[in-house]
Parts: sequence; structure tokens; C-alpha cells
Amino acid sequence: MSSILEKIAVLDFGSQYSQLIARRIRECSVFSKILPYNISLEDLRAENPSGIILSGGPASVYNPKAPKCDPGILSLGVPVLGICYGEQLIIQMLGGKVAGCEAREYGKAELDLKENDVLFEGFGDKSQVWMSHGDKVKELPSGFRAIAVTGSTEYAAIVNSSMKIYGIQFHPEVVHTPRGKFIIENFCRKICGCSGNWTMRSFIDASVEEVRKQVGDKSVILGLSGGVDSSVAAALLHKAIGEQLTCIFVNNGLLRKGEAERVQELFGRNFNIKLKYVDATDRFMKSLENVEDPEKKRKAIGYEFIEVFDEAASEIKDAAFLAQGTTYPDVIESVPIDGNPSAMIKSHHNVGGLPEKMNLKLVEPLAKLFKDEVREVGRCLGLPDEIILRQPFPGPGLGVRIIGKVTMEAVKVLQEADSIVVDEMKKAGLYYKTWQTFAVFLPLKTVGVMGDERTYENVIALRAVDSMDGMTADWVKLPYELMGTISNRIINEVRGINRVVYDLTSKPPGTIEWE
Ligand code: XMP
Repeated sequence: MSSILEKIAVLDFGSQYSQLIARRIRECSVFSKILPYNISLEDLRAENPSGIILSGGPASVYNPKAPKCDPGILSLGVPVLGICYGEQLIIQMLGGKVAGCEAREYGKAELDLKENDVLFEGFGDKSQVWMSHGDKVKELPSGFRAIAVTGSTEYAAIVNSSMKIYGIQFHPEVVHTPRGKFIIENFCRKICGCSGNWTMRSFIDASVEEVRKQVGDKSVILGLSGGVDSSVAAALLHKAIGEQLTCIFVNNGLLRKGEAERVQELFGRNFNIKLKYVDATDRFMKSLENVEDPEKKRKAIGYEFIEVFDEAASEIKDAAFLAQGTTYPDVIESVPIDGNPSAMIKSHHNVGGLPEKMNLKLVEPLAKLFKDEVREVGRCLGLPDEIILRQPFPGPGLGVRIIGKVTMEAVKVLQEADSIVVDEMKKAGLYYKTWQTFAVFLPLKTVGVMGDERTYENVIALRAVDSMDGMTADWVKLPYELMGTISNRIINEVRGINRVVYDLTSKPPGTIEWE
């Protein structure tokens, strides 16, 4: 395996699918990097890509404000593939014609190959592709020819063989183009000549070397939350620097039932990682006394966390680095594109104000990885499914799942109810297949009857959602039987609850968490 990491550059023109393109490339064992469409030629050359993909995007190439890349990209001598807007931009930059369609073409189409180009090897002669465009190529520049058509698109795929420039009007990256992976793989491996040296094993080896070089003989501190990212970062750093790593695990009193013990058992005892456990339950409870407003609660919890963490860290000798489980979607540099608010720059939500306060240098060993790659690294390092496949859990923990004032009683009740939800979801085989399932404590008293006695207790809301990235979500249609079992168990086993309701709200308009 070659030691230089081959790379495909994905220039982002504001497509909702840019990250998907980058992930599909990596599924072919080739590293990919998303770059802003307006990157300078010099900077792009410095990236030394083996090939370049121009993404789709919401603009029209003939709009004066449309995002354009440096046309010199087409003469760098590396293969280029334009997808949708990317294809149209190539055509326009090289003197062809693009115009609006009479009707926007959206949905499935059948692709008819006109010749056997290497781009389509294994794709099949008549395969389904996904179209989503309002403009199309009307006239090709010289040197180009069509290699595939659909019923309504004459230039569904085009090539200039001598320049190794390709354009496709459809989206090979989405699941609605079932054999799209062949196109991406052929482009990366056969046209750009990448050998496929991006594997999580090779990533781990390279990353271990890098971390050792960066850190030297200094100590590193990592805030371990028990979530996927910080857990995998801990395992990776431990492999790289062993005893130089100290993880700090803060119990804010708002964790799931048994979580503090589970994390200590796994990392402290099984992995033998130096773990500093701080039980700050009382401090957090005190800072939440009489706080009802959701934003004030989040701020109070966040502020207290930084204080507690900083104190614990100051007791660690020679600490020079703070490690974080920042992942690739947190650091992708995107540029705002006219009329596409989704492409605005993302804030680094993992950073949370710690490094500024602590005056430590950052180590971010997962910053190149997508979530599925983080999981694969975790698996290679021997972390159990219980950690690798766990559902997201918010930093402020059960604090944002107890509506209004947070009391110790409410936390205990919610921990019990939550553990029943997790238990039953696991028994039904649905826990790892669902984005999030949890209970919410509503400080709302209603009347019930148990045995011969009237009850007057609080309500638990059950929430189950499916999502790709937490940005949008659909409520899940859990089987009635399962909902019935969860409800019965909560009412029978959790003192203080006499009613369970189900949340039927998607995001938007709701959010996943209640606060
Ligand atoms: P919302 O409630 O905004 O949540 O729809 C989207 C996703 O983010 C998680 N979440 C958080 N994660 N710190 C986190 O690390 C937080 O403060 C936080 N708030 C919400 C939430 O569980 C869901 O997966």
C-alpha cells in the first residue's frame, strides 16, 4: 500500500448532497475532502488531488451571481467529474450552452448508455438514475460527446476523453441511483487511478504516528462523555500515547441510570485508561436551583461543566494538550451561497469554550472522519457495540428532558423511566435501528386509579425519532405492543408516574429534545 494518501477533492457549490458525495468516495476506500467552490487554483494544487468532483448546487449557471470556480481547474491535468450543476458549469466555462428546461425534471429516469465508457463499467445498460434539475445542457463545447441519454435528457452523461473531463446530469450519490456507486468508484479508481488506500486500519496507523509526533512527551487531557466520538477518541489516543492520556469524566447528575458506573468499568478497568472521575452532582443541582427557562438551564449546565472540568484538569501535571472528538462534519469549511441558507458556515459545537479558557493546544484525531468512519475506527479498536452504536445523548443530559425545574426526585424518576425505554427497545431489536428513543418528564399532575386507589401523579412523554443527522427528524411509528409494554412497565415500576403519552411531532416543526 502506498504511503501517500490519495485524495479526491469535492468542490462544494451548495448542494445538499456534497457530504454524501464525499462519503460515497470514501466507501470506495479513497480519501475525499470537501473544499469551497471558490478555492484558489494555488490552494487546490497544494491539496494535490488525484481527481476533482464539482458538486451540484441550487443556482443557475447563467445567473450573474452563480458560484463559479476558477476555470483553470479544468487544465490542471487531473480528471474532473461535474455532477448536475457541476456538469453545467463545465459546459459553460468551455463555451457550450446551458438553458432552463421547460419543466423542472425531478425524480427517477432510465439511463441509456450510448457507448461503453469506463465510467459506466458495471453500471448496467439500462439502470435507474435520479434527476433533480431545472436547467440542462443544450450544446456541447468542441471535444465533448454524449455517452448516455435518458428519455428527456440528451446529455445525461458527457465526456471529453483527451481532457478526462466528465459531466453527468443525474445524481450518482443518492440511493435513488441504486448503482451510482459504480460511477463514483470507476471515476476514483479507474479514471483518477487511486489505489484505494483509505481504510480505517491505515487511518489508525497514520493517526497514531501523527498524534505521537504532535504530542511528544507531554500530557493530554480528554473530556470523556461516554458518547461515540469522545469514546473513540479516547481509545485511539490511548493506543497512541498510553499513560500520557488522562480522561476526565464528569458526572453532572443528569446522566442515564448506571452510566457513570458503565463508563468507569469500560474505560478505567477494561481499557486501563487513566480516568479521573468527578462526581459533581451536587454542584450542578445547586446551579440549577430555581432555573426553569430552557436556555438558562443549558447555559447553567454548560458553565458549571467548564468550571468543574477546568478544576479537574488543573490537577493533571504537565498537561499541554486538550483532545476533542471533533468530527469532519464539524469542520467542513462551507461558504454561503446566494439563496441557499443551508450552506451557511457551521459553528464548531463540540468546542464549547473549553480551549480558550484552558490555554491548551488542541488534538482532534477524528477531524477527518465521518460518523460511520468513527464507528468503524471504534470497532477496529475493540469498543463494544453498546458504545459504538449508541444513540446521541445531549450534553445537558436529562436536564433538558425534565421540563421546568430540575430536582433530584425528577432526575431519579426520569432515570428509571428512561432505562425501561432503553431496555424494551433493545428487547424489541429496535434500539440500535432508531436514531433516538427516550422519556421526558412532565411536571404535570393528572388523576389516575391504581387498584382501588385514586392517584395524582406526573406524566412521562415517550419520544422516538428517526433522523440522518439530527437536523430533521420523523417521529417513529413504534409497534403498539411495544408502546403498551413500555407504558405498563413505567406506570407499574416507576413511582411518581401514572400516565404515559406518545409524542407525534416531527422536526421541523418540533425539535428532537423538548427543551
Ligand atoms: P434538537 O433538540 O435541537 O436536537 O432537535 C438535535 C440533536 O442534537 C442533540 N442535542 C445536543 N447534543 N449538546 C449535544 O451534544 C446539546 O446541548 C444538545 N442539544 C440537543 C439531540 O439529542 C438531537 O440528537
